[in-house]
Amino acid sequence: ETQLSEKGSAFAPANIALSKYWGKRNAELNLPATSSLSVSLGDLGTKTEIRVAAEDSVFLNGEAMGSETLFYKRTVDFLKLFPMVGAHFEVRTQNSIPTAAGLASSASGFAALVLALNDLAGWGLGRRMLSLIARLGSGSAARSVYSGFVQWYAGTDDDGSDSYAERIDAEWPELRVGILEVSNVHKPVGSREGMNRTVATSELYNSWPAQADADLEAIRLSIREKDFPMLGKTAEHNALSMHATMLAAWPPLIYLQPESLEIIHTVQRLRGEGLELFLTIDAGPNIKLLFLESVASDVIAAFPDLRIIQPFG
Ligand code: PMV
Repeated sequence: ETQLSEKGSAFAPANIALSKYWGKRNAELNLPATSSLSVSLGDLGTKTEIRVAAEDSVFLNGEAMGSETLFYKRTVDFLKLFPMVGAHFEVRTQNSIPTAAGLASSASGFAALVLALNDLAGWGLGRRMLSLIARLGSGSAARSVYSGFVQWYAGTDDDGSDSYAERIDAEWPELRVGILEVSNVHKPVGSREGMNRTVATSELYNSWPAQADADLEAIRLSIREKDFPMLGKTAEHNALSMHATMLAAWPPLIYLQPESLEIIHTVQRLRGEGLELFLTIDAGPNIKLLFLESVASDVIAAFPDLRIIQPFG
């Protein structure tokens, strides 16, 4: 027996994959070709409130979204999976990250929506099941129902019942993620279309699943042994290899902007000067820097606009 409340509310953190999810084995159920591993971004993410209502309405950062917007459609379509809770909903979403800037706002967005639904409907579901449900909205959302380091299992079942995420039992208080927002003149191709195109047309994608598996194991080991150079190197190599598969798609997927490349070169130069600084990039032009607290002042000196996140508080 579940008990419907007047309102459900929840917060979910954004997350950055250190070993990426790129490519699906089932597009409808968002079943990934490989497992992936992320770190959640502390209090950066999405706060969502949901109520059953007479008609659908979706607010983003206080603003009513038109029914023609992608944000409205994705939210309302997802909620159609839950007619037992209500036919229509009012959803109020507050993002502390720029929406659709390649900063995984869909991950925290769908995770917060599912957690808020769980609160509204009184389901009392555990995190594993909530992760599985969030996955249906956006693959990477499976990871955003947890804080800290998170692994999303590819699973093998056709129905997706074993493709959920779990928190990795480890903390790394000194770890920092720095976000560099890069101005984006072109509207990027979304991850759904980007993955489809890469899998369908990129010859380089053939080598991706094996590398992704190996990278994930190396990241797990680096977390266990607190080996930051191994973590940073593996994460950066993984991200740039993913971008190589994108570049080899047709039409080519070029998410990097001139400013992104400039930052990549600066990071390489700083590393050459002995700074332990690495980066990762998702399906957009923004760069996320990875470093330890001990070098934060050097990193800020090189990138004054950096927004620094402490994943472990
Ligand atoms: O969950 P989606 O469909 O937004 O895909 C996320 C894809 C990447 O951000 C590029 C990689 C990842 O694992 O988050």
